[in-house]
Amino acid sequence: MLDSVVAQGMPLLELRGISKSFGGVAALTDVDFTLRAGEIHGLVGENGAGKSTTMKIIAGVHAEYSGTMHLAGQPVHFRSARDAKAHGIGMVHQELSIVRDLSVAENVLLGMQPVNRLGMIDYAAMYRIAEEQLKKLGIDVDPRQPIGALPLGLQQLVEIARVLFSGARIIILDEPTSALSPPEVEKLFAILRRVRAEGTSFVFISHFLDDILRISDTVTIFRNGRRIETAAARDIDKGWIIERMIGTGHEELEESYTGEIFLHSKPGAAVVMTTQGLTREGLFQDISLQVRAGEVLGIYGFMGSGQLELARALFGKLSLESGSMHVAGAKLRLRNTADARRAGLAFVPESRRSMLFHLEPVYKNVSIAILGRISRLWVRPAAERTIAHTHVKSLQIRPPLVDRPLGTLSGGNQQKVALAKWLTHLPKVLLLSEPTRGMDVGAKDDVLKIVRGLREQGIGVVVVSTEPETVLSMADRILVMKRGRITQEFAGEVVSKDRLLAAA
Ligand SMILES: Nc1ncnc2c1ncn2[C@@H]1O[C@H](COP(=O)(O)OP(=O)(O)O)[C@@H](O)[C@H]1O
Ligand SMILES: [Mg+2]
Repeated sequence: MLDSVVAQGMPLLELRGISKSFGGVAALTDVDFTLRAGEIHGLVGENGAGKSTTMKIIAGVHAEYSGTMHLAGQPVHFRSARDAKAHGIGMVHQELSIVRDLSVAENVLLGMQPVNRLGMIDYAAMYRIAEEQLKKLGIDVDPRQPIGALPLGLQQLVEIARVLFSGARIIILDEPTSALSPPEVEKLFAILRRVRAEGTSFVFISHFLDDILRISDTVTIFRNGRRIETAAARDIDKGWIIERMIGTGHEELEESYTGEIFLHSKPGAAVVMTTQGLTREGLFQDISLQVRAGEVLGIYGFMGSGQLELARALFGKLSLESGSMHVAGAKLRLRNTADARRAGLAFVPESRRSMLFHLEPVYKNVSIAILGRISRLWVRPAAERTIAHTHVKSLQIRPPLVDRPLGTLSGGNQQKVALAKWLTHLPKVLLLSEPTRGMDVGAKDDVLKIVRGLREQGIGVVVVSTEPETVLSMADRILVMKRGRITQEFAGEVVSKDRLLAAA
């Protein structure tokens, strides 16, 4: 439908001056974006840069925005995902939207199942069609199987297949490869190239810059809610992208994207925590590790590798089936998070929402966090504010207004508030899960400095993440997890993103 009116290589979809805010906080500012017919358009930018929001506007998920959109020269404003779909636009979201209990075939043909004369789903036909279609894409799975039983990578491929079969001519893939193994990525790329040759256009969002450069015709960089630059992939390289992604003056972060990093591991430092054979079937197996004083231990793995669950288990939020833990030489009986806290562990989870009080002012959040200390003196608002002011200043929380509700701060600044309490109540081991996810570069730098500061005070820090850059910028020693097991340790050596990915 669309390619009959727009010749290959001509602008197919044009966004002009798109701005969007959530609850008064700007997510996108004046974004222009052009997708050409039959191109693969790579989209890069740090977490929170505005990639998904822009694509959700195109896919009809966000109907409220300012600016204009033209499809094949016609003005459009989609009111719903269904509306966008009717115009030939499909999106595979960052969060998988498969229905786990349904079969592979039902997922592939969701909403398009063939029916028989009685109007009932024709299962035989459904399985046959799904099998044929999947085979054409080189995806070898039994269409009768429940999709939830497949490995994450295959689930992801099946979801992509569904959008391909829906007849969409513009397909947006939001970080489709984070759950894929290298051979699965190759399979996906072969599919994209084949479908592109038939005239379909793709937007491909990824953090893996090598992948972006390999598969894309055109690359656009986003930073802090703005489109920074667009270029032909053949004219640019990784360094060029990174400069625009994170801006200048962030050398340490930049190094974690491009460079080789020497891990200053401290093999002689005192061990503060050990685990032996920690297992929780289906999530992680046989995890034995050591955390040392004054060292940041990074645990990296793809999404679904088990490191995020491991961190929760270390803090007693997830029960273990077997294995043992020691903190400062004492055997730990972790029944719940209170046990963990008593043993000197602290945990800052990925989603800060659960720990903070969004409607309360910043100063309350800081003082609630450190209440153990001030309540003994007496909680006086003036004293609370004074203490909060000190923290807000030392943590460079922006804006530095302690009376603002916490919820009005950016994610990065909320994270700093969440970290504030550990500056006054030093734990023995601090567990951080995805500590800088979704933050802008400035906030990332700030959190990095706080973590370094905590390390200098001699505590053991564990950083678990699915982002190689996060682990590389923070860690002194790195464990890589794959399918629930530790597969490699990097210590006292030079490591790069490529080496980490190769081990994952
Ligand atoms: N549903 C939402 N509600 C509130 N804020 C949001 C929502 N979706 C995205 N944001 C905010 O918009 C900004 C851009 O986010 P996003 O488009 O998801 O970035 P990216 O996909 O590049 O990581 C971030 O600051 C994020 O916190
Ligand atoms: Mg996103």
